[in-house]
Amino acid sequence: MSDSKLFTPIKLRGLELANRIVVSPMCQFSAVDGNMNDWHVMHLGNLAVSGAGLIIVEATGVELEGRITPGCTGLYSDDNEAAMKRVLDFCREHGNGGIGIQLAHAGRKASSAIPWDRFGALGQDDEDAYPTYAPSAVPYSDGWPTPAALDKAGLERVRGAFVQAAERADRMGFDLIEIHSAHGYLLHSFLSPISNQRDDEYGGSIENRMRFPLQVFDAIRAVWPENKPLGIRISATDWIEGGWDVAASVALAKELKARGCDFIDVSSGGISPAQSFSQDDLGPGYQSAFAAEVKRDSGMTTIAVGLITEPQQAEHIIRSGQADMIAMARGLLYNPRWPWHAARELGAEPDYPKQYRRAHPSFGQKAAP
Ligand SMILES: Cc1cc2nc3c(=O)[nH]c(=O)nc-3n(C[C@H](O)[C@H](O)[C@H](O)COP(=O)(O)O)c2cc1C
Repeated sequence: MSDSKLFTPIKLRGLELANRIVVSPMCQFSAVDGNMNDWHVMHLGNLAVSGAGLIIVEATGVELEGRITPGCTGLYSDDNEAAMKRVLDFCREHGNGGIGIQLAHAGRKASSAIPWDRFGALGQDDEDAYPTYAPSAVPYSDGWPTPAALDKAGLERVRGAFVQAAERADRMGFDLIEIHSAHGYLLHSFLSPISNQRDDEYGGSIENRMRFPLQVFDAIRAVWPENKPLGIRISATDWIEGGWDVAASVALAKELKARGCDFIDVSSGGISPAQSFSQDDLGPGYQSAFAAEVKRDSGMTTIAVGLITEPQQAEHIIRSGQADMIAMARGLLYNPRWPWHAARELGAEPDYPKQYRRAHPSFGQKAAP
Protein backbone atom coordinates (compact mmCIF):
# COMPACT_ATOMS: atom_id res chain seq x y z
CA MET A 1 0.00 0.00 0.00
CA SER A 2 1.47 3.35 -1.03
CA ASP A 3 1.55 6.25 1.37
CA SER A 4 1.90 8.73 -1.51
CA LYS A 5 -0.03 11.94 -0.95
CA LEU A 6 0.15 12.87 -4.63
CA PHE A 7 -1.92 9.81 -5.37
CA THR A 8 -4.65 10.45 -2.82
CA PRO A 9 -8.07 11.63 -3.99
CA ILE A 10 -9.26 15.18 -3.52
CA LYS A 11 -12.85 16.41 -3.52
CA LEU A 12 -13.83 19.80 -4.90
CA ARG A 13 -17.56 20.23 -4.29
CA GLY A 14 -19.18 17.24 -6.03
CA LEU A 15 -16.09 16.39 -8.10
CA GLU A 16 -13.84 13.67 -6.74
CA LEU A 17 -10.43 13.48 -8.42
CA ALA A 18 -8.43 10.26 -8.17
CA ASN A 19 -5.12 12.05 -7.58
CA ARG A 20 -3.60 15.53 -7.36
CA ILE A 21 -1.99 15.71 -10.80
CA VAL A 22 -3.53 18.34 -13.07
CA VAL A 23 -2.88 18.78 -16.79
CA SER A 24 -2.22 22.51 -16.93
CA PRO A 25 -4.18 24.45 -19.56
CA MET A 26 -2.21 24.58 -22.81
CA CYS A 27 -3.11 26.58 -25.90
CA GLN A 28 -2.66 24.50 -29.05
CA PHE A 29 -3.07 27.37 -31.53
CA SER A 30 -4.73 24.85 -33.83
CA ALA A 31 -8.40 25.85 -33.82
CA VAL A 32 -10.12 27.36 -36.84
CA ASP A 33 -12.65 30.12 -36.10
CA GLY A 34 -12.41 29.04 -32.45
CA ASN A 35 -13.44 25.47 -33.32
CA MET A 36 -11.59 22.44 -32.00
CA ASN A 37 -10.73 19.72 -34.53
CA ASP A 38 -8.93 16.39 -34.83
CA TRP A 39 -5.72 17.80 -33.36
CA HIS A 40 -7.61 18.43 -30.12
CA VAL A 41 -9.10 14.93 -30.23
CA MET A 42 -5.61 13.49 -30.39
CA HIS A 43 -4.04 15.90 -27.90
CA LEU A 44 -6.74 15.78 -25.24
CA GLY A 45 -7.59 12.14 -25.91
CA ASN A 46 -3.98 11.23 -25.22
CA LEU A 47 -3.98 13.19 -21.97
CA ALA A 48 -7.35 11.73 -20.99
CA VAL A 49 -5.68 8.31 -20.65
CA SER A 50 -2.57 9.71 -18.94
CA GLY A 51 -3.75 8.91 -15.43
CA ALA A 52 -3.84 12.59 -14.36
CA GLY A 53 -6.69 13.32 -11.98
CA LEU A 54 -7.81 16.41 -13.88
CA ILE A 55 -7.32 17.97 -17.29
CA ILE A 56 -7.92 21.67 -17.74
CA VAL A 57 -8.62 22.48 -21.39
CA GLU A 58 -6.71 25.38 -22.91
CA ALA A 59 -7.50 29.09 -22.53
CA THR A 60 -10.77 29.42 -24.42
CA GLY A 61 -11.98 32.83 -25.54
CA VAL A 62 -15.42 33.79 -24.28
CA GLU A 63 -15.79 36.13 -27.24
CA LEU A 64 -14.06 36.20 -30.60
CA GLU A 65 -11.85 39.11 -29.52
CA GLY A 66 -11.04 37.23 -26.29
CA ARG A 67 -8.88 34.66 -28.10
CA ILE A 68 -5.13 35.09 -27.65
CA THR A 69 -4.46 34.16 -31.29
CA PRO A 70 -6.65 33.36 -34.29
CA GLY A 71 -5.77 29.69 -33.60
CA CYS A 72 -7.13 29.69 -30.06
CA THR A 73 -10.30 27.89 -29.09
CA GLY A 74 -13.46 29.85 -28.44
CA LEU A 75 -16.78 29.24 -26.78
CA TYR A 76 -18.83 32.07 -28.21
CA SER A 77 -20.86 30.28 -30.89
CA ASP A 78 -22.94 27.16 -31.41
CA ASP A 79 -20.27 25.92 -33.84
CA ASN A 80 -17.58 26.28 -31.15
CA GLU A 81 -19.75 24.37 -28.72
CA ALA A 82 -20.52 21.54 -31.14
CA ALA A 83 -16.84 21.15 -32.10
CA MET A 84 -15.73 21.11 -28.49
CA LYS A 85 -18.46 18.70 -27.44
CA ARG A 86 -17.22 16.18 -29.98
CA VAL A 87 -13.76 16.30 -28.37
CA LEU A 88 -15.12 16.21 -24.84
CA ASP A 89 -17.39 13.23 -25.60
CA PHE A 90 -14.42 11.38 -27.09
CA CYS A 91 -12.31 12.03 -23.98
CA ARG A 92 -15.19 10.92 -21.75
CA GLU A 93 -15.65 7.70 -23.68
CA HIS A 94 -12.04 6.63 -23.32
CA GLY A 95 -10.63 8.57 -20.36
CA ASN A 96 -11.46 8.49 -16.71
CA GLY A 97 -10.33 11.72 -15.02
CA GLY A 98 -12.11 15.00 -14.39
CA ILE A 99 -12.19 17.48 -17.27
CA GLY A 100 -12.35 21.23 -16.77
CA ILE A 101 -11.98 24.24 -19.02
CA GLN A 102 -10.14 27.52 -18.67
CA LEU A 103 -12.41 30.40 -19.69
CA ALA A 104 -10.45 33.40 -20.83
CA HIS A 105 -10.38 36.82 -22.36
CA ALA A 106 -7.01 37.84 -23.73
CA GLY A 107 -7.60 41.59 -23.32
CA ARG A 108 -4.78 43.74 -24.64
CA LYS A 109 -2.69 40.65 -25.49
CA ALA A 110 -5.36 39.35 -27.90
CA SER A 111 -4.82 39.32 -31.65
CA SER A 112 -1.35 37.84 -31.19
CA ALA A 113 0.51 35.89 -33.84
CA ILE A 114 0.70 32.10 -33.62
CA PRO A 115 3.93 31.67 -31.64
CA TRP A 116 5.56 29.18 -34.00
CA ASP A 117 5.14 31.76 -36.80
CA ARG A 118 6.57 34.55 -34.68
CA PHE A 119 6.12 36.24 -31.29
CA GLY A 120 4.17 39.47 -30.94
CA ALA A 121 0.97 41.11 -32.09
CA LEU A 122 -0.55 40.64 -35.54
CA GLY A 123 -0.17 43.73 -37.70
CA GLN A 124 -3.27 45.95 -37.81
CA ASP A 125 -3.62 45.20 -41.54
CA ASP A 126 -3.26 41.44 -41.07
CA GLU A 127 -6.51 39.88 -42.27
CA ASP A 128 -6.68 37.75 -39.10
CA ALA A 129 -6.25 40.72 -36.71
CA TYR A 130 -9.12 41.72 -34.45
CA PRO A 131 -9.80 44.54 -31.95
CA THR A 132 -8.38 44.39 -28.45
CA TYR A 133 -9.93 45.55 -25.16
CA ALA A 134 -8.47 46.41 -21.78
CA PRO A 135 -9.20 48.39 -18.62
CA SER A 136 -7.24 51.33 -20.05
CA ALA A 137 -6.03 52.33 -23.49
CA VAL A 138 -2.46 51.29 -22.69
CA PRO A 139 -0.70 48.87 -25.06
CA TYR A 140 1.14 45.83 -23.75
CA SER A 141 4.38 47.07 -25.25
CA ASP A 142 5.87 48.88 -28.24
CA GLY A 143 4.57 47.44 -31.47
CA TRP A 144 1.33 46.25 -29.86
CA PRO A 145 -2.06 47.77 -30.70
CA THR A 146 -3.58 50.28 -28.32
CA PRO A 147 -6.58 48.50 -26.81
CA ALA A 148 -9.97 50.17 -26.43
CA ALA A 149 -10.72 50.92 -22.77
CA LEU A 150 -13.87 49.02 -21.83
CA ASP A 151 -16.76 51.29 -20.94
CA LYS A 152 -19.68 50.19 -18.74
CA ALA A 153 -21.47 48.57 -21.68
CA GLY A 154 -18.26 46.80 -22.68
CA LEU A 155 -17.78 45.44 -19.17
CA GLU A 156 -21.32 44.14 -19.19
CA ARG A 157 -20.75 42.54 -22.60
CA VAL A 158 -17.60 40.75 -21.42
CA ARG A 159 -19.19 39.61 -18.16
CA GLY A 160 -22.14 38.31 -20.16
CA ALA A 161 -19.77 36.46 -22.50
CA PHE A 162 -18.13 34.69 -19.54
CA VAL A 163 -21.59 33.69 -18.27
CA GLN A 164 -22.71 32.39 -21.67
CA ALA A 165 -19.52 30.40 -22.10
CA ALA A 166 -19.98 28.92 -18.61
CA GLU A 167 -23.52 27.88 -19.55
CA ARG A 168 -22.19 26.24 -22.70
CA ALA A 169 -19.47 24.48 -20.65
CA ASP A 170 -22.10 23.11 -18.29
CA ARG A 171 -24.33 21.97 -21.14
CA MET A 172 -21.40 20.11 -22.72
CA GLY A 173 -20.67 18.35 -19.45
CA PHE A 174 -17.45 19.94 -18.20
CA ASP A 175 -16.77 19.18 -14.53
CA LEU A 176 -14.96 22.35 -13.57
CA ILE A 177 -14.17 25.88 -14.70
CA GLU A 178 -10.93 27.74 -14.16
CA ILE A 179 -11.23 31.49 -14.83
CA HIS A 180 -8.07 32.83 -16.46
CA SER A 181 -6.96 35.84 -14.45
CA ALA A 182 -3.20 35.45 -15.01
CA HIS A 183 -0.44 36.11 -17.57
CA GLY A 184 -1.46 39.67 -18.41
CA TYR A 185 -4.79 38.78 -20.00
CA LEU A 186 -7.95 40.81 -19.43
CA LEU A 187 -8.85 39.97 -15.83
CA HIS A 188 -5.25 40.13 -14.66
CA SER A 189 -4.93 43.47 -16.43
CA PHE A 190 -7.75 44.80 -14.24
CA LEU A 191 -5.95 43.62 -11.10
CA SER A 192 -2.57 45.11 -11.95
CA PRO A 193 -1.84 48.82 -11.53
CA ILE A 194 0.62 48.46 -14.43
CA SER A 195 -2.22 48.01 -16.93
CA ASN A 196 -5.21 49.40 -15.01
CA GLN A 197 -5.10 53.18 -14.98
CA ARG A 198 -8.83 53.80 -14.65
CA ASP A 199 -10.22 56.48 -12.41
CA ASP A 200 -13.70 55.00 -11.98
CA GLU A 201 -14.80 52.32 -9.49
CA TYR A 202 -12.77 49.71 -11.45
CA GLY A 203 -9.39 51.39 -10.98
CA GLY A 204 -7.18 52.95 -8.33
CA SER A 205 -7.43 51.10 -4.99
CA ILE A 206 -6.94 47.34 -4.84
CA GLU A 207 -10.65 46.99 -3.96
CA ASN A 208 -11.52 48.79 -7.18
CA ARG A 209 -9.05 46.83 -9.30
CA MET A 210 -10.43 43.54 -7.95
CA ARG A 211 -14.02 44.60 -8.64
CA PHE A 212 -14.38 43.42 -12.26
CA PRO A 213 -12.66 40.03 -11.82
CA LEU A 214 -14.81 39.43 -8.72
CA GLN A 215 -17.95 40.43 -10.61
CA VAL A 216 -17.05 37.93 -13.32
CA PHE A 217 -16.47 35.28 -10.66
CA ASP A 218 -19.85 35.98 -9.02
CA ALA A 219 -21.68 36.02 -12.34
CA ILE A 220 -20.25 32.63 -13.34
CA ARG A 221 -20.85 31.17 -9.90
CA ALA A 222 -24.50 32.21 -10.18
CA VAL A 223 -25.07 30.07 -13.29
CA TRP A 224 -22.53 27.28 -12.72
CA PRO A 225 -24.15 24.33 -10.91
CA GLU A 226 -23.75 24.26 -7.14
CA ASN A 227 -22.03 20.83 -7.19
CA LYS A 228 -19.39 21.86 -9.76
CA PRO A 229 -16.14 23.55 -8.68
CA LEU A 230 -15.14 27.00 -9.89
CA GLY A 231 -11.59 28.27 -9.45
CA ILE A 232 -9.25 30.84 -10.87
CA ARG A 233 -5.69 31.09 -12.18
CA ILE A 234 -3.74 34.13 -11.05
CA SER A 235 -0.31 35.56 -11.54
CA ALA A 236 0.81 35.86 -7.92
CA THR A 237 3.24 38.60 -8.86
CA ASP A 238 3.91 40.85 -11.85
CA TRP A 239 7.63 40.71 -11.09
CA ILE A 240 7.58 44.51 -11.33
CA GLU A 241 8.16 47.03 -8.55
CA GLY A 242 4.81 48.71 -7.85
CA GLY A 243 2.87 45.99 -9.70
CA TRP A 244 0.53 43.26 -8.48
CA ASP A 245 2.26 41.19 -5.79
CA VAL A 246 1.86 38.26 -3.44
CA ALA A 247 0.25 40.33 -0.67
CA ALA A 248 -2.36 41.51 -3.18
CA SER A 249 -2.87 37.89 -4.29
CA VAL A 250 -3.56 36.88 -0.69
CA ALA A 251 -6.11 39.71 -0.40
CA LEU A 252 -7.77 38.49 -3.61
CA ALA A 253 -7.73 34.90 -2.36
CA LYS A 254 -9.56 35.95 0.82
CA GLU A 255 -12.22 37.77 -1.23
CA LEU A 256 -12.61 34.76 -3.49
CA LYS A 257 -12.80 32.36 -0.57
CA ALA A 258 -15.66 34.35 0.92
CA ARG A 259 -17.44 34.00 -2.43
CA GLY A 260 -17.11 30.22 -2.56
CA CYS A 261 -14.07 29.88 -4.84
CA ASP A 262 -12.86 26.28 -4.82
CA PHE A 263 -9.19 26.66 -5.79
CA ILE A 264 -6.52 29.08 -6.95
CA ASP A 265 -4.02 27.97 -9.55
CA VAL A 266 -0.94 30.04 -8.77
CA SER A 267 1.19 31.16 -11.69
CA SER A 268 3.10 34.43 -12.18
CA GLY A 269 4.08 37.16 -14.62
CA GLY A 270 2.93 38.18 -18.07
CA ILE A 271 1.64 41.70 -17.49
CA SER A 272 4.52 43.46 -19.23
CA PRO A 273 7.82 42.66 -20.93
CA ALA A 274 9.32 45.00 -18.32
CA GLN A 275 9.02 42.22 -15.74
CA SER A 276 12.23 41.52 -13.85
CA PHE A 277 11.90 37.78 -14.41
CA SER A 278 13.19 36.06 -17.49
CA GLN A 279 13.71 32.57 -18.85
CA ASP A 280 17.09 32.55 -17.12
CA ASP A 281 15.40 32.75 -13.71
CA LEU A 282 13.40 29.59 -14.27
CA GLY A 283 14.24 26.77 -11.91
CA PRO A 284 12.51 23.71 -10.50
CA GLY A 285 9.24 24.63 -8.81
CA TYR A 286 9.90 28.34 -9.34
CA GLN A 287 6.33 29.33 -8.46
CA SER A 288 5.49 26.79 -5.74
CA ALA A 289 6.42 29.17 -2.92
CA PHE A 290 3.68 31.53 -4.14
CA ALA A 291 1.08 28.77 -3.95
CA ALA A 292 2.30 28.00 -0.43
CA GLU A 293 2.04 31.63 0.66
CA VAL A 294 -1.44 32.10 -0.79
CA LYS A 295 -2.57 28.85 0.86
CA ARG A 296 -1.01 29.67 4.22
CA ASP A 297 -2.37 33.21 4.46
CA SER A 298 -5.82 32.69 2.95
CA GLY A 299 -6.63 29.05 3.67
CA MET A 300 -7.52 28.63 0.01
CA THR A 301 -7.02 25.32 -1.81
CA THR A 302 -4.14 25.86 -4.22
CA ILE A 303 -2.57 24.36 -7.32
CA ALA A 304 1.20 24.80 -7.69
CA VAL A 305 2.60 25.01 -11.22
CA GLY A 306 5.91 25.73 -12.92
CA LEU A 307 8.74 23.30 -13.68
CA ILE A 308 7.38 20.52 -11.55
CA THR A 309 8.91 17.58 -13.35
CA GLU A 310 9.96 14.94 -10.82
CA PRO A 311 7.66 12.58 -8.91
CA GLN A 312 9.45 13.15 -5.59
CA GLN A 313 9.28 16.91 -6.13
CA ALA A 314 5.53 16.73 -6.77
CA GLU A 315 5.05 14.45 -3.79
CA HIS A 316 7.00 16.86 -1.57
CA ILE A 317 4.87 19.85 -2.63
CA ILE A 318 1.69 18.03 -1.59
CA ARG A 319 3.12 16.33 1.48
CA SER A 320 4.66 19.51 2.88
CA GLY A 321 1.35 21.33 2.42
CA GLN A 322 2.65 23.88 -0.08
CA ALA A 323 -0.28 23.12 -2.35
CA ASP A 324 -3.21 20.72 -2.66
CA MET A 325 -2.59 19.83 -6.29
CA ILE A 326 0.21 20.24 -8.81
CA ALA A 327 -0.24 21.19 -12.45
CA MET A 328 2.17 20.29 -15.22
CA ALA A 329 2.33 21.57 -18.79
CA ARG A 330 5.58 20.96 -20.68
CA GLY A 331 6.46 17.87 -18.64
CA LEU A 332 3.22 16.20 -19.71
CA LEU A 333 3.63 17.13 -23.36
CA TYR A 334 7.10 15.63 -23.22
CA ASN A 335 5.93 12.53 -21.42
CA PRO A 336 2.16 12.01 -21.26
CA ARG A 337 2.79 8.78 -19.34
CA TRP A 338 4.36 10.76 -16.49
CA PRO A 339 1.53 9.92 -14.05
CA TRP A 340 2.06 6.18 -14.65
CA HIS A 341 5.78 6.47 -14.04
CA ALA A 342 5.29 8.72 -11.03
CA ALA A 343 2.82 6.25 -9.55
CA ARG A 344 5.32 3.45 -10.04
CA GLU A 345 8.07 5.47 -8.35
CA LEU A 346 5.80 6.41 -5.44
CA GLY A 347 4.36 2.93 -5.05
CA ALA A 348 0.84 3.86 -6.17
CA GLU A 349 -1.43 2.37 -8.82
CA PRO A 350 -2.59 4.63 -11.62
CA ASP A 351 -5.62 3.85 -13.69
CA TYR A 352 -4.43 2.17 -16.89
CA PRO A 353 -6.82 1.86 -19.81
CA LYS A 354 -7.55 -1.85 -20.24
CA GLN A 355 -6.10 -1.80 -23.74
CA TYR A 356 -2.72 -0.76 -22.28
CA ARG A 357 -2.64 -2.92 -19.17
CA ARG A 358 -0.06 -5.27 -20.59
CA ALA A 359 2.43 -2.43 -20.59
CA HIS A 360 2.31 -2.33 -16.79
CA PRO A 361 5.65 -3.47 -15.35
CA SER A 362 3.85 -6.04 -13.18
CA PHE A 363 3.21 -7.99 -16.37
CA GLY A 364 6.96 -8.42 -16.63
CA GLN A 365 8.38 -9.65 -19.89
CA LYS A 366 5.73 -12.28 -20.56
CA ALA A 367 5.63 -13.15 -24.22
CA ALA A 368 2.71 -11.87 -26.19
CA PRO A 369 0.38 -14.72 -27.17
C1 LIG B 1 2.22 25.01 -25.10
C2 LIG B 1 1.79 25.79 -23.88
C3 LIG B 1 0.55 26.40 -23.87
C4 LIG B 1 0.11 27.09 -22.73
N1 LIG B 1 -1.16 27.60 -22.69
C5 LIG B 1 -1.66 28.09 -21.54
C6 LIG B 1 -3.02 28.41 -21.40
O1 LIG B 1 -3.85 28.15 -22.29
N2 LIG B 1 -3.44 28.94 -20.23
C7 LIG B 1 -2.58 29.15 -19.17
O2 LIG B 1 -3.01 29.65 -18.14
N3 LIG B 1 -1.28 28.82 -19.27
C8 LIG B 1 -0.81 28.27 -20.40
N4 LIG B 1 0.48 27.85 -20.46
C9 LIG B 1 1.29 27.87 -19.24
C10 LIG B 1 1.21 26.50 -18.55
O3 LIG B 1 -0.13 26.17 -18.19
C11 LIG B 1 2.10 26.45 -17.29
O4 LIG B 1 1.58 27.33 -16.32
C12 LIG B 1 3.56 26.79 -17.58
O5 LIG B 1 4.00 26.19 -18.79
C13 LIG B 1 4.46 26.33 -16.44
O6 LIG B 1 4.31 24.95 -16.22
P1 LIG B 1 5.38 23.86 -16.78
O7 LIG B 1 6.73 24.27 -16.24
O8 LIG B 1 4.91 22.54 -16.20
O9 LIG B 1 5.35 23.90 -18.27
C14 LIG B 1 0.95 27.19 -21.59
C15 LIG B 1 2.22 26.60 -21.64
C16 LIG B 1 2.64 25.88 -22.75
C17 LIG B 1 3.99 25.21 -22.72
